[in-house]
Amino acid sequence: MRRGSVLTLVAIGVVAGGLATAVAVLLPWLPTPASREAGRIDFVIWFVIGICIFVFAVVIAALLYSIVRFRAAPDDESDGPPIHGHTKLEIVWTIIPTLLVTAIGIVSAVVLAQNDAQGSNVLHVDVTAQQFAWSFSYPDSGNLTSATLRLPKDRSVLLTLHTKDVIHSFWVPEFGQKQDTVPGLTTTLHITPDRLGTFPVVCTELCGLGHALMRSTAVVMEPAAFQKWIAGQTKATSSPNPATAGNAVFTNNGCANCHTLTAAGATGKVGPDLDKLVQEAKQAGKPLAAFVKQSITDPSAYVAPGYPDHIMPSTFGSSLSPQQLDALVSYLVSSSKKG
Ligand code: CUA
Repeated sequence: MRRGSVLTLVAIGVVAGGLATAVAVLLPWLPTPASREAGRIDFVIWFVIGICIFVFAVVIAALLYSIVRFRAAPDDESDGPPIHGHTKLEIVWTIIPTLLVTAIGIVSAVVLAQNDAQGSNVLHVDVTAQQFAWSFSYPDSGNLTSATLRLPKDRSVLLTLHTKDVIHSFWVPEFGQKQDTVPGLTTTLHITPDRLGTFPVVCTELCGLGHALMRSTAVVMEPAAFQKWIAGQTKATSSPNPATAGNAVFTNNGCANCHTLTAAGATGKVGPDLDKLVQEAKQAGKPLAAFVKQSITDPSAYVAPGYPDHIMPSTFGSSLSPQQLDALVSYLVSSSKKG
């Protein structure tokens, strides 16, 4: 190739590469990371995409150049010149990909090692998945349970994941990692949240009828606010005041995600309206308190007309302590009578 042709080729490659890089970098393809791990994973993604853009631009530039420069005339039916390999070219196109793939391997290995390295003072959180709800408990704080995943900023968090039924998958897009929950297995996920905010917790494994509803939220808080929340929750769930204790059980077990209850400020629309429990109990032909208790521990026993069966977890009878269950029942009974 003549010198001028090579310069044209390089110019086309640079322009095409610049355009492709602008599209890749200027559009918001990925959520803004909210954990150190997600930041590192994003770095790997862009590192690999940058290499892909470079290779793609070079190939397309050579292709476009050849189409224009070496196009045969319409009446030219002669054979091309006999060419037999080009050793230098073959060495170059073997060495460059080898270097690129090795670089990707090294960068990925470093990031994986960094992401798995737990800091000191790890916060342990047990994550329980079931059709179709998440619950989170804090073994370092007397197994306090919560329906939202609250985490302190800039502290190593080790999630230990279990499922009560089928395979689910834990995912907070802003944390950048997914982890399956598998029957009979314990899986773990290490996260170091580094941005305050509220982020969605998504089930990302098709797990049944209510899969799309299996959502919660993760809240990253200042460490002091997190400690205050832990202390407040511990106090509320063991409160001698049944309304306070019942409200805490209601909130911590995620009831508000699906049900409306004015007393708790809950506006969920997936399950029956709990402000109308008095009417529902009448329709089911049961005394109010017994009806409420049965609906919590055995939700399929009476399914309110217009609502699907098997959406509400059937495990509250065993996951709640008898005291928590009683507090929740009396809280719901008294709230719905007011409502
Ligand atoms: Cu759980 Cu999808």
